[in-house]
Amino acid sequence: MQTKQLHTKVNKLTGVLTIPGDKSISHRAVMFGSIAKGKTTVLNFLEGEDCLSTIDCFRKMGVDISKESDSVVINGRGFEGLQEPTEILNVGNSGTTTRLLLGMLAGTPFHSCLIGDESIAKRPMKRVTNPLRDMGAFIDGREDGNYTPISIRGGTLKPIRYNSPVASAQVKSAILLAGLQCEGTTSVTEPHKSRDHTERMLRAFGGEVEENGLTCSINGGQQLRGINIHVPGDISSAAFFLVAGAIVPNSSITLHRVGLNPTRTGIIDVLKEMGADLTIENEQIEHFEPVGDINIKTSSLKGIEISGDIIPRLIDEIPIIALLATQASGDTIIKDASELKVKETNRIDTVVTELKKLGASIESTDDGMIIHGQTGKLTGTTVDSYGDHRIGMMLAIAACIAEGQMTLKDPDAIAVSYPMFFEHLNSLID
Ligand code: S3P
Repeated sequence: MQTKQLHTKVNKLTGVLTIPGDKSISHRAVMFGSIAKGKTTVLNFLEGEDCLSTIDCFRKMGVDISKESDSVVINGRGFEGLQEPTEILNVGNSGTTTRLLLGMLAGTPFHSCLIGDESIAKRPMKRVTNPLRDMGAFIDGREDGNYTPISIRGGTLKPIRYNSPVASAQVKSAILLAGLQCEGTTSVTEPHKSRDHTERMLRAFGGEVEENGLTCSINGGQQLRGINIHVPGDISSAAFFLVAGAIVPNSSITLHRVGLNPTRTGIIDVLKEMGADLTIENEQIEHFEPVGDINIKTSSLKGIEISGDIIPRLIDEIPIIALLATQASGDTIIKDASELKVKETNRIDTVVTELKKLGASIESTDDGMIIHGQTGKLTGTTVDSYGDHRIGMMLAIAACIAEGQMTLKDPDAIAVSYPMFFEHLNSLID
């Protein structure tokens, strides 16, 4: 296994970064571009491994996707342009690719088979395969369609009204994408609002989606048209540098053109509530998503409780929030976050185990964790990403405030969402 020596105890982090493209939006740009008619051009596409898996899957279904110097160009030919793949579709590490693709394939009149890596093979898929079966898709897979490998043959779909037990944009999007392919109105209701990139992008491609409280509805048979997209910087990637700027002494970091979609900005709310010195400038809507520049400075922080509606708005940021909380005065309590157990790793376990190795005072609970802040310095040791990009990046930021030497196992996992992460971090180190 590869290891990497991390920078420890850095004096300050200063500078300006342009954060790479949003992962959720990059996936959707390729997917919607593929089922739209005409040309879609995507600027600031995230060249992370997850989004490259999405491109690879659509190419295997015959979609013409090319990379130009600063963009990805998709020549969509509608749902009917998708062809039965002669090879297995490899989704790699990407849950978004798997679940949204299943929604699309639910109505396509051919057979496909999806596999992914070791982590994907452990992630529950019944949350999408069950409702898609109810709509009429023929799906089989390990443990009755809960785990990859999964095979799917699209059927003639009928609309459903689905009450999702989880607040999941992946579940919502899979059902809306299946709903686009059947006669009548399909709706999904979720317990809390999840990210709404699918709804925004469908509208930008000329589609109609209705939102009524926690319910989203779509009429089948709509034809999408190719567009130009400029993907905002990923707030989930920015989060690592927002926390780094807040906890490393003498720091000031500016992040340009970060996506500020309100369904994703839980991290900003948490930083502000904890007392961070954070300002946002140049806020504007670009295409169909809000963006802005964020500055963060070294901050004096206090612990808070994080629970309820905000959880889906920061679910991917909880690993780095846990590190942030180790530097705040008092306790931080994270509740209602049992979804963490079914991410790329069980992130309750991996966060608690790795931060404990560094000497943090942190306990896991059934649906989250409790972090006792400012209980002592973090001390470097050998830590593990467990193949989870966000655990790897959290540990690299932890190193910046740790004493002694620190080694990260499996640092390459970070390329899933942020291939330039270490170059960007190094550019801020004095
Ligand atoms: C994503 C939705 C979230 C998030 C994931 C990306 C998306 O998952 O954790 O990283 O692009 O729709 P869930 O929708 O399953 O909560």
